[in-house]
Amino acid sequence: MGLWEDAKNIRDKDPAARNVLEVIILYPGFHVLVTHKLAHFLYRHKWFFVARLISQLSRHLTGIEIHPGAKIGRKLFIDHGMGIVFGETTEIGDNCTIYHGVTLGGTGKETGKRHPTLGDNVLIGAGAKVLGPVYIGDNVRVGAGSVVLKNLPANATAVGVPAEIVRINNKKVCPADDLDQQDIPDIFEQRIASLEARLSRAEARLQGEYPPGPGQLDTPPLRRPPESGGQSGR
Ligand SMILES: CC(C)(COP(=O)(O)OP(=O)(O)OC[C@H]1O[C@@H](n2cnc3c(N)ncnc32)[C@H](O)[C@@H]1OP(=O)(O)O)[C@@H](O)C(=O)NCCC(=O)NCCS
Repeated sequence: MGLWEDAKNIRDKDPAARNVLEVIILYPGFHVLVTHKLAHFLYRHKWFFVARLISQLSRHLTGIEIHPGAKIGRKLFIDHGMGIVFGETTEIGDNCTIYHGVTLGGTGKETGKRHPTLGDNVLIGAGAKVLGPVYIGDNVRVGAGSVVLKNLPANATAVGVPAEIVRINNKKVCPADDLDQQDIPDIFEQRIASLEARLSRAEARLQGEYPPGPGQLDTPPLRRPPESGGQSGR
């Protein structure tokens, strides 16, 4: 059965857990899976209020707020719990690990599908925020405290605010590797070409090839002569 598998999974992944019974009695990460299964069932049958009620009661009990609409795969391991929020359109694949303080939330700018989708075997470190309808590929690791705002490809490790990919397939990702060092633009050549173009335009204007356009006059506008209103003679 799903819940038994979930409890065994927590026992296997948490070195501090001694047996499945301990997990069932003591672990908020397990309790929230039980209540969410019920809330999600009611949500799917359009019992929205009761579903939300169960989800909120569970939040008081566990410190983990999972919207009843969120879709959660098999063997989710929520370590510690507390301060975790999953939004209504969140989708989580199988065998994921989520630490305390994680938000899988919206940016406030989208409607409809507005929360993240996680593939299988994804790890989201403590305090990390994954925001918007982004896709996090299989086997991705998001570092503790990171803020993810873009899709992440499978097998990537992303860290920081905003999160940047630092590893793919455990191999260091170095932005300098992508730099094309053969075809670097020649800034001096570009500058000289631009000066030549300006010079030929100025020469053409002086030779009267074409009249200057508005705002291209080099000479300042003529100043009107002072009025000779008869005051000078006094
Ligand atoms: C990201 C993490 C999963 C490690 O993934 P990994 O693929 O093994 O990556 P590495 O440990 O090789 O680290 C890759 C780089 O990211 C850096 N890094 C790792 N975690 C980071 C973090 N949370 N914030 C910023 N940088 C981090 C490393 O220093 C390393 O930098 P380098 O490229 O300059 O050497 C791990 O560091 C992490 O944050 N785990 C979450 C654990 C957690 O939340 N525990 C709570 C227990 S209560």
